[in-house]
Amino acid sequence: MTSNTFRTATLVIALVAALSIVGCGTMTNVVPTDNAAALAGETTFANDCARCHSASSLKGSAGQIINDLGSLDSAMNGITLTDEEVTNLKAYLATQ
Ligand code: HEC
Repeated sequence: MTSNTFRTATLVIALVAALSIVGCGTMTNVVPTDNAAALAGETTFANDCARCHSASSLKGSAGQIINDLGSLDSAMNGITLTDEEVTNLKAYLATQ
């Protein structure tokens, strides 16, 4: 192996390692950039839901999301969503 080949190989290994670290850090799937409802839902989720729920754990019960979440569980008393937010959250969770 010439030292140039060695350097290239080292660079490739470093790059692959760096990319896999970035991949591990993202806990959620990437939302397709052409899905406006899902992107809006992602923001609402991050602001209003992520401190208690992970997207993957809520995905299966997305159909239960309603305007007044306090009526589902008292832990969510006071969290209310507009119809649009409900639609967007469901669109977001469908991508997760
Ligand atoms: C303060 C913490 C908290 C926040 C913030 C919160 N939830 Fe919850 N949520 C809970 C708890 C506790 C339950 C009942 C136990 C459980 O299922 O995790 C629950 C249950 C649910 C359920 C019933 C289905 C299920 O998995 O049990 C849905 C649907 C839900 N939450 C949606 C949401 C959405 C959407 C948001 C954001 C708009 C949100 N929650 C924000 C705490 C929270």
